[in-house]
Amino acid sequence: METSSIESAKTESAKPEAAKPEATKADADASATSAREVVVSVKDLAKTYRTGFFRKKVEAVRGISFEVRHGEIFGLLGPNGAGKTTTIKCLLRLVFPTRGELKVFRLSPEKRESMLRVGYMPENPYVYRYLKPLELLDLCGRLAGMDRKDRRDRSEAMIDKVGLRHAVDRPIGKFSKGMMQRVGLAQALLHDPELLVLDEPMSGLDPIGRKEIRDILLEQKRRGKTLLFTSHILSDVEMLCDRVSILQKGSVTAEGKLSALLTSEVAHSEIELRGVSSALRSRLAELPEVALHDAEAALLVTVRESEVADALREALDGGARVVAVRPQRKSLEDLFVEKR
Ligand SMILES: Nc1ncnc2c1ncn2[C@@H]1O[C@H](COP(=O)(O)OP(=O)(O)O)[C@@H](O)[C@H]1O
Ligand SMILES: [Mg+2]
Repeated sequence: METSSIESAKTESAKPEAAKPEATKADADASATSAREVVVSVKDLAKTYRTGFFRKKVEAVRGISFEVRHGEIFGLLGPNGAGKTTTIKCLLRLVFPTRGELKVFRLSPEKRESMLRVGYMPENPYVYRYLKPLELLDLCGRLAGMDRKDRRDRSEAMIDKVGLRHAVDRPIGKFSKGMMQRVGLAQALLHDPELLVLDEPMSGLDPIGRKEIRDILLEQKRRGKTLLFTSHILSDVEMLCDRVSILQKGSVTAEGKLSALLTSEVAHSEIELRGVSSALRSRLAELPEVALHDAEAALLVTVRESEVADALREALDGGARVVAVRPQRKSLEDLFVEKR
């Protein structure tokens, strides 16, 4: 069994020079500064676990490749069990890959120099439950080699940033899942790392909490940081990611700019018509691959993109009123579902 913990990750992800106050740094426009530098490179990564008495094989990741570039927010997406966490753990050497070449800041993840520049928020942090949040952050700061003043200043600042001031006197063991997520994010940000690796950072949070975390992540991007995060919650992703890889059962099924993935195939449009005569209705029904739906006083005509002009011509010639033409944009959900 392989396991991970904040402690074990932190031992590697130390960064001695760390911690300058957030506000003193200029808001670097991430896309402008050395946008092409590859920060994370994953080539043909595979991981097969062996479990149980009979050492049964579980192929968690089956030869995936992707790159994360400086200053971008990259989303590793996919349903539960797709292999997202395994990929992240291999990248941080918490799990040893079966095959593949991994680079973080152009170095092997085994190199301490590369891990010093990484902040990691695990999916399920294992922490000593009797610590209070500031005590945990202080411990993490110590493991990261930060000096006492830095540790104190940064810990206090991060507690405020993630909205845990009201809970500083409570042991972490009493925290809700959402509060644990916030502690996890605070410790990942503590040493002001250049690369943030976040495993399901928004799970367990309510909508307001999700927005707060999203805003923190966007702020990090504005400050020129690079972010790699995993998610199975689609709505978070659309608002955050520059590029994504979609994983299904250990393989990449789609990748690229989210905007391109979602708009490249506007396959159909929905035309809303009013005042449609029965003669017009029959003519519309003859268009190829058309679907007609009645909606109160309106008729909704769904046609292939290539047939929109013909359908509109028929409709106008037939005396109908065109209320709307709505391209049926592909949703992330479609992307998740169709490649299975
Ligand atoms: N330590 C482990 N030992 C055996 N199987 C594992 C282990 N960790 C994960 N798996 C299996 O690998 C697959 C991918 O899991 P995981 O990487 O956690 O996916 P995700 O993070 O996308 O939900 C799943 O089938 C899971 O059961
Ligand atoms: Mg996971």
